[in-house]
Amino acid sequence: MRGAIRIDSYLCGDSLESIADDVRAGLSRDFKELAPKYFYDERGSQLFDRITSLPEYYPTRCEREILNRWAPQIVALSEAEELVELGSGTASKTRALLYAMAGTGRLRRYVPMDCSESVVIECADELSVIYPGLEVHGLVGDFERHLEHLPDGERRLFAFLGGTIGNFYPEVRSRFLRYLHTLMGPNDHVLLGTDLVKDVAVLEAAYNDSEGVTADFNRNVLRVINQELDADFDEDAFEHVAFFDPDACWIEMRLRSLRDQDVRVDGQVVHFEDGEEIRTEISSKFTREQLAQEFNQAGLGIEAFFTDSNGHFALTLAAPR
Ligand code: SAH
Ligand code: TRP
Repeated sequence: MRGAIRIDSYLCGDSLESIADDVRAGLSRDFKELAPKYFYDERGSQLFDRITSLPEYYPTRCEREILNRWAPQIVALSEAEELVELGSGTASKTRALLYAMAGTGRLRRYVPMDCSESVVIECADELSVIYPGLEVHGLVGDFERHLEHLPDGERRLFAFLGGTIGNFYPEVRSRFLRYLHTLMGPNDHVLLGTDLVKDVAVLEAAYNDSEGVTADFNRNVLRVINQELDADFDEDAFEHVAFFDPDACWIEMRLRSLRDQDVRVDGQVVHFEDGEEIRTEISSKFTREQLAQEFNQAGLGIEAFFTDSNGHFALTLAAPR
């Protein structure tokens, strides 16, 4: 026996066009930039999965520690009967939440949303076997564009883990939180995972691992663009760069051109100087005070704040005020 699965996809049709528009716009700026969601094709998701178990990449371990310890409390406080997860990936840490919800006897539905189709299908399959009574309603979509398609529900817990909200620019982040608030009913809660400000060496090591997996992950964006658009990036002609920007309070990931080169992208030629850098991702780091202010501005009241034993990572539980 297994639970019922339904998967809706919102990435068909318009995706190619929007990739082309995004990439073209990003590469025609003075300071070139590529949108991070293109990291996560099937290979990208696999590489990210490897990142999560690297010794230097502490966020996953810290967040797992918090969830393993506090999931029952989070579920009790939120009285959640349904888990909606944005950027769910392989949902490996989410299982602690589902387990705690199942323990109350009130777990009804799990709604994973991710732009990577392969991970949504895989995790829906797996979870419906583990929880035969669970309804899994997966959404393959972009959480910046398709949140309106989330099914209505009651007593939902919206989980946004992994520090993924830190990959938004601050303006996008505050718009996102305010929009999320408008989707929430009075009995819904949000559980937000954020990485915290800490020693710069620890921060930078997490994005410059010694095995070079993060570098491969970063360069994978060029492969995705080669595959999806008509482009001829040479992956080996770019190197991975990641550093902490203390003013912006984020880790910035870039790809640096190793030579003077012309790349054909979607019918156009894009020139890269030797040493020129493309920004591929930011990962913002927070303080508790900053988080309190941002939740407050979004109209959300904080109900609980948890960190791991090292104080590296935080989970915040909040609800509409
Ligand atoms: N929640 C997991 C995965 C975090 S990695 C964890 O904590 O380990 C970020 C996840 O968000 C990836 O699975 C990626 O495919 C997804 N993602 C990135 N940008 C997205 C977007 N714009 N819309 C939907 N999913 C996105
Ligand atoms: N959400 C993850 C983070 O900000 C994404 C991530 C981890 C990432 N390592 C990366 C993105 C390397 C690009 C390159 O920590």
